Amino acid sequence: MPSADPPPEPDDRPHPSGPRAAGGRRERAAVLCGLAGWVPPRIVTNDELSQRLDTSDEWIRTRTGIGQRHFVEPGQATSDLAVEAGRRALESAGIAQVDALVVATTTPDRSCPATAPLVAHRLGLTGAAAFDVSAVCTGFVYGLASAAGLITAGVATRVLLIGADTYSAIVDPDDRTNAIIFGDGAGAVVLRAGHSEEPGAIGHFDLGSDGAGEELIIVAAGGSRQRSTPGEVSRADRHFAMQGKAVYRHAITRMSASARASLTAADWKVDEVDHFVPHQANQRILRAVADDLGLPPERCVSNVESVGNTGAASIPLALADAAARKVIEPGDRVLLTAFGGGLTWGSCLLSWPTLAPRTPSAPTTVTPVSAPAEEGGPHAS
Ligand code: UT7
Repeated sequence: MPSADPPPEPDDRPHPSGPRAAGGRRERAAVLCGLAGWVPPRIVTNDELSQRLDTSDEWIRTRTGIGQRHFVEPGQATSDLAVEAGRRALESAGIAQVDALVVATTTPDRSCPATAPLVAHRLGLTGAAAFDVSAVCTGFVYGLASAAGLITAGVATRVLLIGADTYSAIVDPDDRTNAIIFGDGAGAVVLRAGHSEEPGAIGHFDLGSDGAGEELIIVAAGGSRQRSTPGEVSRADRHFAMQGKAVYRHAITRMSASARASLTAADWKVDEVDHFVPHQANQRILRAVADDLGLPPERCVSNVESVGNTGAASIPLALADAAARKVIEPGDRVLLTAFGGGLTWGSCLLSWPTLAPRTPSAPTTVTPVSAPAEEGGPHAS
């Protein structure tokens, strides 16, 4: 059921990123109108990890650019993060109800049911459609496409999209390669119905997948293929596993190609992008993709140093940080690109609207990508 909120304000400023009909005719489009991020208060520094793992702050910073991450407290789950971010995004948009809620996550509270209906209930979104999107670290961009599709199809007028992940629940704390990379967090946006030529209109999606890479990022057990029979599932199969070197190379290739596809579809030149906001996988990946696209480092938004890789939460967390600090300002042209397990990837574009973003509870720092990129992928062993 469409909400009873007033229709969107008309905005006649020219806007180049929304989907356009032939002849430049305006079309119904999904427009960004609310934004928030939230990370749990508990900070886990590299030094803390180094006390129980055979690693060091220097190794982690050099290989990933990560300085710290946030973890939930025992007993907290993805819906708890999602509710915090979702509530703040609704406040940012100045609305109390939406027609639909989409939660992008790899770490749902349970295998069944989806997490979104519970989050909708806890946010008081009475009767809203609610479902999860599962596309690992590309989840937020896939979720944006899903949410925008609900609006452009006329199914919904306002949609809340939350990217939320609790990687501390699926990463083996004794796995030094993955335990250093991932953190917990949530980021959320509100989209409303508007038109394709106004600031905030989201468009020119490029989405793709390659299931041949299923095993590169995987939690092997717990689904219908390999069931979690007590005593029969190894510790490794119960936890998140990643083939780091292969993922590193795929991430750079796929993100660069996807970003280019969106830019080509919108007829934007790379140097017209004011801010590139990629999935915050790892600082070297971000730098390598920016280099590949020909984007100066200062146009690449990165907060991976402060929050690590937060999966589906990473792009909205980076956006909320950057917008709150006025790194991204109204009218700026923004390119979003993600890559994740599946394999999956995706990109889209928007021109930044006037927003009142809500920032994470603990301050994070937005820094331009500065770490040097190594040629040919990660550290050659
Ligand atoms: O959303 C997608 C997100 N995925 C990613 O961003 C991951 C992409 N991959 C990477 O960023 C890198 O592959 C990693 C950071 C995960 C690993 O870096 P690498 O340069 O590929 O390291 P490696 O796995 O090849 O390991 C090199 C060495 C090994 O030791 P030996 O065999 O050379 O003696 C590892 O055992 O580094 C060792 N190592 C570590 N040493 C200290 C692996 N993890 C650690 C660690 N601390 N945490």
